Amino acid sequence: MKLKLIPTVLLILSVTSTADDYVRPQPRKTLHLPWHSKPSSYPQQVHISLAGDKHMRVTWITDDKSAPSVVEYGTLPGKYDNVAEGETTSYSYIFYSSGKIHHTVIGPLEPNSVYFYRCGGLGPEFELKTPPAQFPISFAVVGDLGQTGWTKSTLDHIDQCKYDVNLIPGDLSYADYIQHRWDTFGRLVQPLASSRPWMVTQGNHEVEHIPLLKDGFISYNSRWKMPFEESGSSSNLYYSFEVAGAHIIMLGSYDDYDVYSEQYKWLKTDLSKVDRKRTPWLLVIFHVPWYNSNTAHQGEGGDMMETMEPLLYAASVDLVFAGHVHAYERSKRVYNGKLDPCGAVHITIGDGGNKEGLAHKYIDPQPKWSEFREASFGHGELKIVNSTHAFWSWHRNDDDEPVKSDDIWITSLVNSGCVAQKKTELEHALMTP
Ligand SMILES: [Fe+2]
Repeated sequence: MKLKLIPTVLLILSVTSTADDYVRPQPRKTLHLPWHSKPSSYPQQVHISLAGDKHMRVTWITDDKSAPSVVEYGTLPGKYDNVAEGETTSYSYIFYSSGKIHHTVIGPLEPNSVYFYRCGGLGPEFELKTPPAQFPISFAVVGDLGQTGWTKSTLDHIDQCKYDVNLIPGDLSYADYIQHRWDTFGRLVQPLASSRPWMVTQGNHEVEHIPLLKDGFISYNSRWKMPFEESGSSSNLYYSFEVAGAHIIMLGSYDDYDVYSEQYKWLKTDLSKVDRKRTPWLLVIFHVPWYNSNTAHQGEGGDMMETMEPLLYAASVDLVFAGHVHAYERSKRVYNGKLDPCGAVHITIGDGGNKEGLAHKYIDPQPKWSEFREASFGHGELKIVNSTHAFWSWHRNDDDEPVKSDDIWITSLVNSGCVAQKKTELEHALMTP
């Protein structure tokens, strides 16, 4: 009797193991960060972002509304040869009043260099490294972070990967109208975000619009000011920047994007300034994915895709990053739903670790354009090696260890001849009113 059972048990174990040998984790609880009492002028929630050529914006918050907005900085610890003064803002939201939010631009800074800085003339010394001026350059990429145990795990892994710039395709704090959760998120990310530039765009969790009472994006725009003025944009919801040899466009899935919109007009102007000799790589980042074979948020990006994909295709965009869907997916080069050697690679990476958990269900069969898809928490790393080659890897949070689960070498569209082929098409697209 026992002998008959053994093969059956082995068969069951074997089938289980082959079908899915990875047990996907459950969501983890929201972190509760203890509040350490500090002087009201003590800088908190420090983060930095790129602010035009050779400049960096330092952002922090003080409870003291009269605290100065100065940043002292230099290349040696404790020795500050330079000082810059910035601007401040604050906001109220129902019963909540924010602290004083300081934005101070420092520079010019040398590339690939370590600087030490202090905010408001007191508090701890922070250390930052500027990105390189030339290849190679490394980006961390992660969306839909939130502030749970999984977020902490993801942040720990990003901290280990030696990135130059962090790219975030939206959904940061998951404060969801509870404003002090923006403060706890700011404190959670400070160790990383104060040492490397974090470049963000907005997701649906940043909107926080209350009809007749509060406009959208009040908290997000006040706290996460990005270089929109530096890139000729009139809105913090879309902008661009250049770093090493990459031109990176951050679009707004939650602002108007039709062909008559300010965003669309700005996008055309921005694309007309791209020089592929100076920046051979062209990346675009926004929140709601255009290529998504998960059942979650299926088709939500369709309108924006219909409007903007032809323009991005004419411009030979190499890579598109999105979030929103709490899973990972990488496409082959694709345009208009079909495989196309001159289309972009689309990567959905909304798996930072937020409280809502993972999106497990996928459409079957897997579309031809979809190369790799998995519902797990994790982060991505993009190392652009030179003008023609970049290495992309996705790292799953596996039992709290980062495990490389997908990787691929990507060849630039400059190298493949697409940019040269479509030069006239792009000129025509940019001239069309
Ligand atoms: Fe989202």
